[in-house]
Amino acid sequence: MKKFLHVQDIGPLSSALQEAAEIKKDRFAHDTLGKNKTLLMIFFNNSLRTRLSTQKAAMNLGMNVIVLDVNAGAWKLETERGVIMDGDKSEHLLEAIPVMGSYCDIIGIRSFAGLTDRSYDYEETVFNQFVQYSGRPVFAMETATVHPLQAFADLITIEEHKTKARPKVVLTWAPHPKALPQAVPNSFAEWMNAADVDLVITHPEGYELDPQFVGDARVEYNQMKALEGADFVYAKNWSCPGVTNPSDYGKVLSKEMSWTIDAAHMAVTDNGKFMHCLPVRRGMIVTDDVIEAPTSLVIPEAANREISAQVVIKRILETL
Ligand code: CP
Repeated sequence: MKKFLHVQDIGPLSSALQEAAEIKKDRFAHDTLGKNKTLLMIFFNNSLRTRLSTQKAAMNLGMNVIVLDVNAGAWKLETERGVIMDGDKSEHLLEAIPVMGSYCDIIGIRSFAGLTDRSYDYEETVFNQFVQYSGRPVFAMETATVHPLQAFADLITIEEHKTKARPKVVLTWAPHPKALPQAVPNSFAEWMNAADVDLVITHPEGYELDPQFVGDARVEYNQMKALEGADFVYAKNWSCPGVTNPSDYGKVLSKEMSWTIDAAHMAVTDNGKFMHCLPVRRGMIVTDDVIEAPTSLVIPEAANREISAQVVIKRILETL
């Protein structure tokens, strides 16, 4: 695997899930595979889970790891081509990328959406520049439009906790004070569509996700109706994807607090399990009682980030 961005990059999900289960049983079974290989993790944005879980996964495989926080100590990078660099950005990404590639064997990138230029974000401009100019395999640690390591961990978690062959999984928008990217819901929808689940997506009108991610999922604007009989409730905020009205791209169209997941919402599910990628704002996305309930999976879900990262890095190492 030379690039990890979309669900199809990992191949058949059944074998990826099987490999995840094997790694979970013995995460040090391949602890020499990465000997003398270096992972460079590049963060343009903050992280807790992705940073720790991905570094741990690489260390389980015997790799060396370098972490670069671009906004904390590196030269400020220009990402646009054709600009006169007379501002505060000292280095262009197009020089920085091959330099970074020369110090490592694999690159992981975290670079969020700017939420101002839909085309720039949805063309995955920054991620694709790394693919094109680094000379190294590159994997997404949340890019402008996708967060596949999270979605893979979510799928592992659903596999571990499902009580039906084909569970009902509901992806629900929930309110948030600030504009957030669509990467997590995009990838969650993409991976659930590829898995054997009954996916329903619910959000206020105007928040329609890009059709490439919605796929065959049912979209239901009545949140309570969508949640009826759900086995898994995946809550997430996202800003306007700009599908129906491109000028609204990246805007907060609603802060409707009736969409916050509380006990009344969970009561209409089929003993549904609560999921969220974290970090989560309590009282906005979910109430304390729901996230603290035994049916909340947020901690095992975060723990599975180590497993999803390890499958991906292992597969990349096997192609070097
Ligand atoms: N879920 C997730 O990616 O968490 P971090 O932003 O803390 O890495």
